[in-house]
Amino acid sequence: MNKGRTYHITTFGCQMNEHDSEALAGMLEELGFSESPERNSADVAIINTCSVRENADKRFFGTLGQLKKIKKENPDFTVCVCGCMMQQQHIIDSIKTKYPWVDLIFGTHNIHQFPQLLQNVMAEREKLVKVWEDGGEIVEGLPTKRLYKHKAFVNIMYGCNNFCTYCIVPYTRGRERSRKPEDILEEVRRLVRDGVREVTLLGQNVNSYQGDENTDFADLIYMLNEVEGLLRIRFMTSHPKDLSDKLIQAYRDCQKLCNYIHLPVQSGSRRILARMNRRYTKEDYLELIGKLRQAVPQITISTDIIVGFPGETEEDFEETLDLVRTVRYDSAFTFLYSIRKGTPAAQYADQIPEDVKHHRFNRLVETVNSISAEKNAAYEGRVEQVLVEGTSKTDSNTCSGRTEGFKLINFPGNSEMAGKLIDVKVTAGKTFSLEGEVL
Ligand code: SAH
Ligand code: SF4
Ligand code: F3S
Repeated sequence: MNKGRTYHITTFGCQMNEHDSEALAGMLEELGFSESPERNSADVAIINTCSVRENADKRFFGTLGQLKKIKKENPDFTVCVCGCMMQQQHIIDSIKTKYPWVDLIFGTHNIHQFPQLLQNVMAEREKLVKVWEDGGEIVEGLPTKRLYKHKAFVNIMYGCNNFCTYCIVPYTRGRERSRKPEDILEEVRRLVRDGVREVTLLGQNVNSYQGDENTDFADLIYMLNEVEGLLRIRFMTSHPKDLSDKLIQAYRDCQKLCNYIHLPVQSGSRRILARMNRRYTKEDYLELIGKLRQAVPQITISTDIIVGFPGETEEDFEETLDLVRTVRYDSAFTFLYSIRKGTPAAQYADQIPEDVKHHRFNRLVETVNSISAEKNAAYEGRVEQVLVEGTSKTDSNTCSGRTEGFKLINFPGNSEMAGKLIDVKVTAGKTFSLEGEVL
């Protein structure tokens, strides 16, 4: 069945989407398809979309536009679109009217139906739109084709209940649902048997994980720390409003939990944070950073920041710069505020002009980068434990990997080092990465 047929997946967005694409690939391989390096020559093309900012929407429509010609030349070419954008009716409507060469539309809640939907579309040669509005029961046991050999993403929960006023995710991913701890443990043990050494636990707000009445997020970390053969545990993303003391303690007790945290702050202004519905103040956030650093002095910290949220004044923005200089992040993802249809902030009257947003954005990036460069330069001469990912695509004598603190490091090496945890001496610290040599 389907022998000789090929697929190609394009993924936009976060790790959640990357992981969904791994499941789509797994299901396709079970159906007998194999992966094609080229989208244009594949039998089935899938685009897994993101809706978090306008840019992501635009890139999707651009990609979709390019497929028209291929479909014209080869009517059997099957175009499937899925992911967060498909959870919005206005997007589905515009695909139907402006991009009629799309064959199958499905959403984030019914990924498990994909094999069935695809087979229907291919057999009947009819278009199909199937999107669920809400997440049903969690479906366990989907096959996955992993992107990396030695590290893996593991979903521990789905959805988000926080409704930050700028954000589309609660609308595209539904309400919070946690997987059972035993299902997660079983998956991690299976991954380890398959060669995985590092897992990244995924959730929009892992701090509100509740697997059962006795298992919160910190408990889950303690349980995973016992899995034999697993070397490292990471997680993404945690919301400052409910990061518990118990989790901070877990950093001290659980040797496998990496000394790294991604803790999105979004803004340094109390007023803007309130309008964003983040439910913490600058002071709360700084207190949390203080506690983390006291418990784990070597912890590395990264964040997300939005510039130009409606109503942001120069003073508010200065508060953000001040926070960045106080915390001194190892790295930060910075975003221009983007209006998302259907979210509360889209209705706010005091939107910030584009030129003001860009000007602030550039100032912020400069501040963030110069701190990153200083922090990385301070690593020169230190010895770091690195999980080797493999050799570089362009140079088989250069390896890359991540330090415990999630810094990218390049060093001379060979393919046999992949998957190993080795000591590397840092020889240079640059803005976005380190260079080193194996000891
Ligand atoms: N659940 C995660 C974030 C998911 S979205 C959390 O709460 O931390 C990733 C990042 O995209 C957010 O942290 C935010 O900084 C950014 N983002 C989300 N919506 C945005 C918007 N409308 N405009 C600009 N940036 C946005
Ligand atoms: Fe979006 Fe806020 Fe939920 Fe993160 S916590 S996904 S920013 S609503
Ligand atoms: Fe992720 Fe984008 Fe959806 S950031 S959750 S793929 S909107």
